[in-house]
Amino acid sequence: MASGVLLSRGAAFIGKNTRNVRFASTRTVTLIPGDGIGPEISAAVQKIFAAASVPINWEPVDVTPVKGPDGKFGIPQAAIDSVNKHTVGLKGPLMTPIGKGHRSLNLALRKEFNLYANVRPCKSLEGYETLYKDVDVVTIRENTEGEYSGIEHEIVPGVVQSIKLITEDASMRVAEYAFSYAKSNGRNKVTAVHKANIMRMSDGLFLRCCREAAKKTPEIKFEEKYLDTVCLTMVQDPSQYDVLVMPNLYGDILSDLCAGLVGGLGLTPSGNIGLNGAIFESVHGTAPDIAGQDKANPTALLLSAVMMLRYMELNPYADKIEKACFAVIREGQKLTGDLGGKGKCSEFTDEICKKIETASS
Ligand code: IPM
Ligand code: MG
Repeated sequence: MASGVLLSRGAAFIGKNTRNVRFASTRTVTLIPGDGIGPEISAAVQKIFAAASVPINWEPVDVTPVKGPDGKFGIPQAAIDSVNKHTVGLKGPLMTPIGKGHRSLNLALRKEFNLYANVRPCKSLEGYETLYKDVDVVTIRENTEGEYSGIEHEIVPGVVQSIKLITEDASMRVAEYAFSYAKSNGRNKVTAVHKANIMRMSDGLFLRCCREAAKKTPEIKFEEKYLDTVCLTMVQDPSQYDVLVMPNLYGDILSDLCAGLVGGLGLTPSGNIGLNGAIFESVHGTAPDIAGQDKANPTALLLSAVMMLRYMELNPYADKIEKACFAVIREGQKLTGDLGGKGKCSEFTDEICKKIETASS
């Protein structure tokens, strides 16, 4: 991942394993615990990070919308200041009202910090069987515009219009990001996913930007595919895909499809990358039906936090936590209900902590 851009400050000097840490300056990360199951899965991640002695301080912030001087509801200034100051955040799920009320806060955060690329790796987990084996794809979604621009109006009663805004700037930067991600993560191919046969101008522009970025990175293979073809062929044989880049809504849908191949949204991480910072988040919802009952699966938020550690160049900690998490899933003793187990969130969490502590002792 194109990390390191903004993170020279506070870089840790780490020995071969975390016990040999000679010097690791502690950095602060903004924590947005979120709604529903958010607080309990965030607490699980904090506990696991503490067990691994990750050199991070958490700064929890509340993003419940507040009324600004203009009378509009928005993200509280303290939360904005915290992300701007620390430049890295971890976020649990936030409730999105359907069809009314304030705009999705999830989107507001992406917009506020100009987090232009949404990266979602989907990799089969050893020991957790699904219909597919060896899935290893990464969707990279344009994250600030397209069908998510929020420009909608009623022309006359019964006729509404929604504008899909595509700009060369945003398309170019996400296309370039996809190629630089492929290059720095040892990937071979980028597939641009589009419907430029129908949306000839908007997707046409997006596609042209992908072609241009491809030319600048000849060592990475490039192909263009229609969205519908990708959906069909992805479920037939995901192994033909590697990194995929696409406009906002297509990425929303296709990343869920890919998550489905490896066991669902409870297992897949996500990172929103910007020029001046990044927010890592679990993609699943707030699950209000099980909130506060110690039943939630913290894996997606934990793996998002692991992605965050790699972004911060704290790889030894990331590797250690990821390994422990995969081992607990593989052993299958403490799995939560969504994975067919009877384990509680706290039991699953403690099992991961135990593995980390044993590995460090
Ligand atoms: C996602 C989610 C969000 C989206 C929702 C919660 C607004 O589905 O991150 O994929 O549509 O982008
Ligand atoms: Mg989605």
